[in-house]
Amino acid sequence: MNKFSFFISISGLFGLVSCSGNASESAVLPIDTVQTDSAPVLEDDHSYSNVHDVYSKHLHLDLAVDFERKVLSGSVVHTIENVNGVTEMVFDMNDEAIQKITLDDDTAATAYTIGEDDELLGSALTVQIKPETKKVTIYYESDPGSNSLQWLTPQQTAGKKHPYLYTQGQAVLTRTWIPCQDTPLKRITYSAHIKTPANLMAVMSADNPTEKSKDGNYSFDMPQPIPTYLIALAVGDLSFATLGERTGVYTEPVMLSKCVYEFVDVEKMVIAAEELYGEYKWGRYDIIVLPPSFPFGGMENPKLTFATPTIISGDRSLVSLIAHELAHSWSGNLVTNATWDDFWLNEGFTVYIENRIMEKVYGKEYSDMLLSIEYQELENENEDILAGSHPEDTHLKLNLDGRDPDEGMTSIAYVKGALFLKTLEAAAGRDKFDPFLKSYFDLHEFQPVTTEMFVEFLNKNLLEPNNIEFNTDEWIYGEGIPENCVAVESDRFDKVSEKAALITSVNSGAELNVKKTDWSTQEWMHFIRQIPAEADVTKMEMLDNEFNFSTCGNAEIMSEWYLVSIQKGYDKINKPMEDFLVTVGRRKFLQPLYEELAKTESGMALAKKIYTKARPNYHSVSTGTIDEILSWEE
Ligand code: BES
Ligand code: ZN
Repeated sequence: MNKFSFFISISGLFGLVSCSGNASESAVLPIDTVQTDSAPVLEDDHSYSNVHDVYSKHLHLDLAVDFERKVLSGSVVHTIENVNGVTEMVFDMNDEAIQKITLDDDTAATAYTIGEDDELLGSALTVQIKPETKKVTIYYESDPGSNSLQWLTPQQTAGKKHPYLYTQGQAVLTRTWIPCQDTPLKRITYSAHIKTPANLMAVMSADNPTEKSKDGNYSFDMPQPIPTYLIALAVGDLSFATLGERTGVYTEPVMLSKCVYEFVDVEKMVIAAEELYGEYKWGRYDIIVLPPSFPFGGMENPKLTFATPTIISGDRSLVSLIAHELAHSWSGNLVTNATWDDFWLNEGFTVYIENRIMEKVYGKEYSDMLLSIEYQELENENEDILAGSHPEDTHLKLNLDGRDPDEGMTSIAYVKGALFLKTLEAAAGRDKFDPFLKSYFDLHEFQPVTTEMFVEFLNKNLLEPNNIEFNTDEWIYGEGIPENCVAVESDRFDKVSEKAALITSVNSGAELNVKKTDWSTQEWMHFIRQIPAEADVTKMEMLDNEFNFSTCGNAEIMSEWYLVSIQKGYDKINKPMEDFLVTVGRRKFLQPLYEELAKTESGMALAKKIYTKARPNYHSVSTGTIDEILSWEE
């Protein structure tokens, strides 16, 4: 794989600071710290592109959506900046069929080569250009097996009448549907013309239509520069409803009113985030609720969060996921991890901000429960990783060279990252920490940032001015969870634990004296996690009779329940669990269940039986993971 590097213009970045109106608001400014001569050399092990020599600053897509053939076909026009006057421009691609490449307004084809194919990273597409070339147009078609795209049949949608298509870009999948320089080191603006079959609507991570067009022609504009992993498209039988002044929701018509009910507080969340970290820079904040195969809970595509329908619980209890994706509008989308080794800068900051938004909108008692749930996951995963072959994956700063960036998607980046910031917050006090974070976003907006750049910024602008001693290096370059980590506690969870301890000594669920409506989803999740080791199948049945966990409809509760049930051999869940696994494609739910099943022979047999049915419904992100767990051969 090719490596590359380039110098980020630190002097240009910090030149802005002196005239920034924000400086006076913050106790930690002014900032004049990073020296040009110490500017870091930035490298991305997961891209072939030569962005240090020549980079694409705008791309225009012209694509037709062909559901029959499962391809997007048309062209991408790259408007380029040739910094070093080079005669070759390298793009990332993965399996697209290239028909022809032209320069500027010429119609004659230029020469290009396609390098060796790597399963994960695809190939280098090297195009012969001239030093004065301004535009490179690539005529191409995506592969029907593109790892970004999921083509759904009408049967796989809520309405059952129309096909559906959506993309997933992060981390290295955009190159499987757009030949581009697919690295978070550089940002790009984009525009698009998308042609869909009649009766469908197309939406993108861009300014969007709110109604179907008559002829299936849609135009898009994304004027803010973004990294390519945030380019996204969805096409289906979509309808739109307004939530607030700047907020709204897209989904299939049969889902629309449920989504509107669930998302009543979204505008309040935007306001809460702005109060903390400054103006929302992306215009509108809309959400698209996708079919259940979507492999993630949410994806922070700018202007339009992509979300799983498993958060539509009917009681608004899973909306912290929206707070999370919204938080990425600052951490990730505005200030972006320079490489996937710095992924915690995206996710750790985002989990921290998510929790601050939740505290502001719903109160501390509730945000404490949310963090406790996550902390339990961190403790377990930390132990697992330390016991495995890559204990260094418990560092915040990763080294994913030669590995799938997806492997960095653990609670380390998310929760250890957030707790690092929470521990810093406790050391400095919110009066200093909040303006510090706000200035971090202001000063690095629309820029890539490395872990090292953040550490330097932290030292100069929070720790040194306030004489705070902090074990930053241990947090970032050390294994596990440092001793000084803030305590994560929840009084409400303590009460739940007391009830759970009674499970082995009561003879009926009613004796526990808890009504279904007494507790939040998070309290029920905690209750299930706290079921004592000694509780046997009879106790499981007792609880199921009383609380109906197996078929309660709340995906978070059901998946926790199925996991404990597999461990205890409570097989009355087998049918509802199969239904769940066949419909839902969210990897976070699938992975632990298949892993638990795979531990025994009979479980493995059941897993394989279910997977045979379920696999056609999953996105490649999920089949990639589950194929490995079950040693599945297509
Ligand atoms: N950006 C991530 C999803 C992602 C990460 C996709 C890495 C591909 C590679 C998104 O913001 C996310 O973290 N989603 C979580 C939500 C949760 C933490 C609230 C998810 O999908 O579970
Ligand atoms: Zn995230």
